[in-house]
Amino acid sequence: MENSAQYPSIPVIEPAGLRFSEPPGELVHANGHYEKRFSELDGLYADAEAYLAMLPTLADTTVYSVTDYKPSSDAGDLIVGVTRMNPGRVGDEYFMTRGHIHAIPNRPEMYFGQTGNGLMLMEAPDGEIRTIPLNAGAICYVPPYWIHRTVNIGEAEFVMAFCYPADSGQDYKIIETSRGMRKRVFSDGANGWRLVDNSDYRPRSFEDIRRLAASAR
Ligand code: PA5
Ligand code: MN
Repeated sequence: MENSAQYPSIPVIEPAGLRFSEPPGELVHANGHYEKRFSELDGLYADAEAYLAMLPTLADTTVYSVTDYKPSSDAGDLIVGVTRMNPGRVGDEYFMTRGHIHAIPNRPEMYFGQTGNGLMLMEAPDGEIRTIPLNAGAICYVPPYWIHRTVNIGEAEFVMAFCYPADSGQDYKIIETSRGMRKRVFSDGANGWRLVDNSDYRPRSFEDIRRLAASAR
């Protein structure tokens, strides 16, 4: 740029044009992608026996994949992407993402349902639970400090887009430490879902929550 030497303190990031694929599931011109295979999700589901029984046939099967565009990891920048998740259950529990809180915990996120029938399961640090349906056209706002995980409660592939601050990061340990989220999403035995108490759940202490609050930026 002609006058760029006058503005040395402004980091110049290239604008980008991207496109959600049709049918949904991909992001054209993305620069990141990963797959989460069934064998990598040990310990996620309540029914460990059912998981082990499914492992030999499903080990290399992708449960969900994430495709995103990350211009930078600067504070104030944004990441946009798409997660696609296969339908399935381990025992009565629907396929889901690992779930996390943002490593900078006061970073929010927006989710946009694209296809299929999904659910956003959210947990506040004190254990409060919320669910928001995510199907085509639905938008879910995940506020700062909420642990979040998406669940495919349908019979078809579930696809959602997301956008969040580029410096957020993901902290997966918070769910491991509490031995799962406080509620799990199970089939109701008909065509629907129900929330079930996680009997292994360990609530966070006052000190845990104080530490989270202290890591806000
Ligand atoms: O930023 C998000 O919350 C999403 O991109 C998720 O990372 C994605 O859906 C995969 O979930 P997880 O990171 O919990 O495995
Ligand atoms: Mn997130």
